[in-house]
Amino acid sequence: MNVRDAIKTRKSVRKFLDKPIEDEKLKAVLEAGRLAPSASNRQEWRFVIARDPETRRKLAEAANGQTFVGKAPAVIVACAETDGHIMSCGQPSYPIDVAIALDHMTLAATELGLGTCWIGAFDERRVKEILGIPERIRVVELMPMGYPSDPSLVRKNRLPLNTIVKYEHW
Ligand SMILES: Cc1cc2nc3c(=O)[nH]c(=O)nc-3n(C[C@H](O)[C@H](O)[C@H](O)COP(=O)(O)O)c2cc1C
Repeated sequence: MNVRDAIKTRKSVRKFLDKPIEDEKLKAVLEAGRLAPSASNRQEWRFVIARDPETRRKLAEAANGQTFVGKAPAVIVACAETDGHIMSCGQPSYPIDVAIALDHMTLAATELGLGTCWIGAFDERRVKEILGIPERIRVVELMPMGYPSDPSLVRKNRLPLNTIVKYEHW
């Protein structure tokens, strides 16, 4: 599968088969995140992989009760060990860098037949308690991952290019 196919095929997966993820596949997905670019190559991303069923159940509770989160065989908890660096453009670098790494991971997962879903609706404090994540660390996103129970393609509901792109000036 080439990158464009992975981009077209990736979709949010909210139903997973009861099948564990092979260690090599998990490692390949994490490696795709490790190789992502980051501001000044800061690489502030840190990932906690939750596979224990009880931990996943608690994470699902912390994700505003989105039970499907706990039904995935693994939940990637994407964190940042950050000093809160603000780039000269005024944007903080860590959420952008963590998101880039995670997006690499979603595409690598797609190539390997795995499904993912971004989870931004969660209680950071509760997630930290569940996983023993230190106070200084930020939890940026959760990402359940597993084999999709329905691997079919979906039509993407997206704005057309001529709405989102302007050439030369606004
Ligand atoms: C930053 C971010 C946070 C999201 N949070 C959630 C979430 O908490 N729960 C959920 O079910 N989907 C969540 N999504 C998934 C979006 O709803 C989904 O990506 C969007 O509807 C487009 O669908 P697609 O991923 O299938 O292309 C999130 C996506 C992003 C990028």
